[in-house]
Amino acid sequence: MEKAMQGLKLKAKSVTHDHLLGVANSCLSIKEEQKTIRILDVGCGNGDLVSYLYLSFEAKYPNKNVELYGFDVFEHGAKKNDYLNGVIGKLSSFGPSVPWGERITTISNSERWPYEDDYFDLILSNQVLEHVHDHDFLFSEVARTLKPGGFSAHLFPLSSCFVECHILVPLAHRIKNYELLKSFIRFFIRVKAIRHFPDLLEKNMSLTRLSESYADYLVNYTNYPSTAKCLRLGRKYKMRTSFKYTKNFYLQKLRSMVGLNPRRTYDKNNTFADYGLFMFLKYVSCVTLFMQKENIK
Ligand SMILES: C[S@@+](CC[C@H](N)C(=O)[O-])C[C@H]1O[C@@H](n2cnc3c(N)ncnc32)[C@H](O)[C@@H]1O
Repeated sequence: MEKAMQGLKLKAKSVTHDHLLGVANSCLSIKEEQKTIRILDVGCGNGDLVSYLYLSFEAKYPNKNVELYGFDVFEHGAKKNDYLNGVIGKLSSFGPSVPWGERITTISNSERWPYEDDYFDLILSNQVLEHVHDHDFLFSEVARTLKPGGFSAHLFPLSSCFVECHILVPLAHRIKNYELLKSFIRFFIRVKAIRHFPDLLEKNMSLTRLSESYADYLVNYTNYPSTAKCLRLGRKYKMRTSFKYTKNFYLQKLRSMVGLNPRRTYDKNNTFADYGLFMFLKYVSCVTLFMQKENIK
């Protein structure tokens, strides 16, 4: 009872975390006899989503063993020791008895995920898929490590999104010609219509160097998938794939803007309305890719 009350009082650091919790609560139905619930956060960054989900699920299922896992990849700057120590240290303050050293890890982005087949009830990611180098590999690992009947939800912008989501320059992620991209970004820096990226700023950077640095970031660290690619890969790996929770993220955002409490679970979907809204929202910002692994062995 006490844990459940704590769960209701929990505050997420980002509306994206509230949204993914809303999706998780809406799709998961944990059977009485199931003892352990396993959840994976792919590309877990600083561990904020892991801690939020851990505390929420501990509160919701006080009699179950809730196991939260997360990993990130070396190629995107997760420095092995510093990074891991920082995340594990932070998570230990939320769940001191949890062996976080066994739950959070770093691997290479081409390496098989360090989990058995059919292991997770739920696999999530937050703003990761637009950075993934090899989507086919990621979908194959989701399909391999999900339990039959398990769910997976990924919040991220598609290639159709009008504005590039990091530097907020329209269509920058669609330009494949490097010189054109650099000049395009340079123009937006000149007219001060760009969001600067603190990690890439150095003292006294020239305009040319700065535009080069942003262009290099987009070329090397982003890879926006299209709607068709996500649907094709979902089907290839025998997962039921849709974008049905996309609108709920925007409703969650609206609630946060007007100061309402976040929704902890979502109402039943209306397929046609959800599809219509997705067709519009995929140009605006993030969508929610939602998959279920077929329940056959
Ligand atoms: C914008 S950050 C988001 C981090 C975290 N999910 C959050 O919400 O704060 C993108 C993350 O995706 C990770 N990433 C990139 N490629 C990946 C891959 N193939 N597999 C897993 N994570 C990946 C990066 O290392 C980075 O931590």
